[in-house]
Amino acid sequence: MTSPLLSITGINKSFPGGVIALDDVSMEFYPGEVTAILGENGAGKSTLVKILYGIYSPDKGDIFFQGKRIVIGSPIDAIKKGIVMVSQIPQLIDRLTVAENLSLSLTSVGLFESMKNVRRVFKEISDKIGIKINPDAKVWSLNYTQKQLVEIARAVLLDAKVLILDEALTYLPVEERRKFYVYLQRFKEEGRSIVLITHKIPEALEISDRIYILRRGKVVGSLVRENATLEQIRELMFGEAAKLITYERFSNPYEIQVGEPIIQVENLVVEGEYGEIAVNKVSFKARAGEIIGIAGIVGNGQRELLEALVGLRRIRSGRVIIDGVDVSNKGVGVIREKGVGFIPDQPLRYAVSAENTIVENIAALFSRQQVVINWSSMIEITNKLIKEYSIYPPNPNIHVKLLSGGNIMKVVVSRELEYATRALLAYNPTRGLDEATATFVRKKIKEKAVGDKVSIVFASEDLDEVLQLSDAVFVMNRGVLYGPFDPVSTPRSKIEELMVM
Ligand SMILES: Nc1ncnc2c1ncn2[C@@H]1O[C@H](COP(=O)(O)OP(=O)(O)OP(=O)(O)O)[C@@H](O)[C@H]1O
Ligand SMILES: [Mg+2]
Repeated sequence: MTSPLLSITGINKSFPGGVIALDDVSMEFYPGEVTAILGENGAGKSTLVKILYGIYSPDKGDIFFQGKRIVIGSPIDAIKKGIVMVSQIPQLIDRLTVAENLSLSLTSVGLFESMKNVRRVFKEISDKIGIKINPDAKVWSLNYTQKQLVEIARAVLLDAKVLILDEALTYLPVEERRKFYVYLQRFKEEGRSIVLITHKIPEALEISDRIYILRRGKVVGSLVRENATLEQIRELMFGEAAKLITYERFSNPYEIQVGEPIIQVENLVVEGEYGEIAVNKVSFKARAGEIIGIAGIVGNGQRELLEALVGLRRIRSGRVIIDGVDVSNKGVGVIREKGVGFIPDQPLRYAVSAENTIVENIAALFSRQQVVINWSSMIEITNKLIKEYSIYPPNPNIHVKLLSGGNIMKVVVSRELEYATRALLAYNPTRGLDEATATFVRKKIKEKAVGDKVSIVFASEDLDEVLQLSDAVFVMNRGVLYGPFDPVSTPRSKIEELMVM
C-alpha cells in the first residue's frame, strides 16, 4: 500500500472569541489522488488548508510530509516543501507580464529559471489545459480564467507535490473548469496530490478519489469515491437540512402575479474596461414581482450591464428607467435610494468592508439618508438577519474579515435582500454559498419577488439556478441579450447553444 504524501493528525485550531474552527482533525493525502474537503459554510475548510500552507499554525496536532514530521512556518516555507495553494482571488501583479509574474514567484523562493524556460513551460501548460495565453501579455489584460491558469502554471513551475485549490476553480465557466479538471487528472498521475475545496458537490464526487467531510470543525465522514453517493455526502454535510437542497422550480405557493414595470431598459450601450462595447443595444422590462434571469458564460457583458443598471458604470447610449424616472447616468446614490438592492460580482471585494463589523456593514447601506445612525435599530436588523441566514458566528460586532467566505456572502445577500423594496440587481447571488444555504437564498429571492412585489434582475453562470428561479430567461452572449425564453417550455439545449455560439 502506498503511504500518504501528506498527513495531519489531531489538528486543533481555535480563534479568539471562542470559535473552535478545527477539532481533532486527521486526514491523509495520497500521491496520485485528488482529495476533496467538503463542508458547509464555516465548517473549517479554509482554516485547515491555511494551516497546510503556513498561514496559520495549529494549536495542537502534527503534520507529516513524506513520513517526516514537519512544521510549516509560512507560505514560502510551504512552497519550498512542495505545498502550493491557489485560492479564489488571483494573487498576481497586474502591471507585470505573465512570464514576469512567474519568474518573480520562482525567485521569491530562491529558484531561478531563464525567462525563455519560463515562457516555454508556461506555453506547455496552457496548451495542455487548452486555453491559449501569450506569456508576454500583461496580467491586467487577462480575464479571470486566464489569471487562474497562470496561478496553476505557477504551482506547476514551483514543482508542487501537493496542490491545494480553495474554491480556485469554482468560479470558472463550466466548460473551462472541465478543461482544468482534465489537466488535474494528468497532474496527479505524476505522483502529485491535489486537495480540492468546492461547494459543487456533484463535481467533487466526479473528480476526487477520496472525500473528507468537515462539520463544525470535526471530520464527520471519510469516504473513497467508489463507495460515496451524493445523498450520503449531503447528509453528512448538512444533516436534516440536506433534504431542503433542490433545483426544482419553486411553484405553489409561489404564484406569479406580475405588476407594473419597475425597470425598463432601452437600447442600452455600455463600454467595458478597455473601451470595447460590453453591452450592445440591450432592451428589456422587469415588472413588479417578476424575476428576470440572465444566463451566460462569464465575461459576456453581464457584469457591465448590472453595473450600468445600478449606476456604477457609465451608459454610452440608451436609457434606464426605474419607477418611471430616467436614471441613466444619475449615479449609484440616486438609484440605490429608490430601494434598489445590488449584489455585485466579487462581493467580498466590492460589497463589504472587511475591516468593519457586520453591523457596520449593514448600517453602511441602511443609514444612507440618516445623518445620525440609529445604532439600536441597526443592531436589531443585523440580529434578525444573522438569525434568518444563520450567519456564524452570530455576533453583530465581529469583524467581517473574521468570517468564512460563505458567511461574508451571507452578510451581503441578506443585507441587499432586506434593503430591496423595489428592485434587486444581482450577479451570481449564491456564489460561495453551500448548497443548503444557496437553496435557502434562492427561495428568499423568490419570496421577495412574490411577497414584496420586488422586481428582480439577476445574472448567473449557474444555468440550473437561472432555470429554477426565473419567470423569463435571457441569454447574454458578447454583449447581446437574447430572449425572453420561457424557462419551462424552452429546451435547456437551446439556451446552452445560445450561451456558447
Ligand atoms: N482569523 C480568524 N479569526 C477568527 N475566526 C476565524 C478566523 N478565520 C476563520 N475563523 C472562523 O473559523 C470558522 C471556520 O472558517 P473557515 O473559513 O475555515 O470556513 P470554511 O469551511 O472555509 O467556510 P466557507 O465555505 O464559507 O468558505 C468560521 O467560524 C470563521 O468565522
Ligand atoms: Mg472557505
